[in-house]
Amino acid sequence: MDMLSPLGPLPELYERVRRVVPPAEWAMFAEDIEAILELKRTRNAVILAHNYQTPEIFHCVSDIVGDSLALAREAQHVEADVIVMAGVHFMAETAKLLNPSKTVLMPDMAAGCSLADSITAADVRLLRQRYPGVPVVTYVNTSAAVKAESDMCCTSGNAKRVVESLGTDSVIMIPDEYLAQNIANETGIRMITWAGHCEVHERFTPEEIRRLRAENPGVVVLAHPECPPEVVAEADYAGSTAGMSDYVASGKASRVVLITECSMSDNLAVQHPNVEFVRPCNLCPHMKRITLPALRHSLETMSHEVTIEPHLADRARRAVDRMLAI
Ligand code: 13P
Ligand code: SF4
Repeated sequence: MDMLSPLGPLPELYERVRRVVPPAEWAMFAEDIEAILELKRTRNAVILAHNYQTPEIFHCVSDIVGDSLALAREAQHVEADVIVMAGVHFMAETAKLLNPSKTVLMPDMAAGCSLADSITAADVRLLRQRYPGVPVVTYVNTSAAVKAESDMCCTSGNAKRVVESLGTDSVIMIPDEYLAQNIANETGIRMITWAGHCEVHERFTPEEIRRLRAENPGVVVLAHPECPPEVVAEADYAGSTAGMSDYVASGKASRVVLITECSMSDNLAVQHPNVEFVRPCNLCPHMKRITLPALRHSLETMSHEVTIEPHLADRARRAVDRMLAI
């Protein structure tokens, strides 16, 4: 690190995150950031980062940021040799499905997801047997093996459009029970659900939202549709992380609370200094496994490479491609 400046040699990068990263923390980040920027050049790599990544990753080393849908869309067009996923395992698998000739790296293979862990391919085959002829829509927060058993994938950003595109009265929508219930409420389509939940969003309660409103008069409540329906019912808006980000960018609210993972508010606070963020939040332990040292190590050692068995990849890709075509 540059000893002449307490901010190290990257003052312009620090300027971006100054509002949410104290100088003492930056002093610990700067060396890894410099190393990662150099490694990206030598490895011809890009970093894709989900909206739940911490600000020093999201704003300082990432090339492409967004919600699950945006990361999937952008992964298709990456021309660099290497994609490093600053996100969780299913996101890396989706990137590999959509751009199979690239080396896709996961900095920590244990960065999973409670939704992806809730269901197996065998479970999907049993559901099909029990509800013959009903289409299966699978949230992208699943393994490639589960996607391979599905008709079509969806994300929280396009779930309504995906289920409506099928033109059926009933849909098997798995594994997020709350997302399925929230989409059923919006569309009137009968959902056959699975009891999977996001361990971050299932913890919010309607009482918490009411208390936040009482304590923060005028606050606009934005909730993720992985929250229970009774929480979504208390919100002013429900949408994917990109939907929440767009809502804040629209300038419709000067005081907001994001009912989602903690880092979302930090990342948006960097971009919208005039918006006040009330911050109750829940941490995703999987997303938080991705750190600057983990990203640096991943690029130094080219680990851990994500691969998908070819017989699964073709079928899983079909379900993701059908979603992207909507
Ligand atoms: P989106 O970014 O697609 O809204 O997904 C939220 C999430 O929990 C991803 O793990
Ligand atoms: Fe999975 Fe929830 Fe974490 Fe997203 S926030 S990775 S859905 S556990």
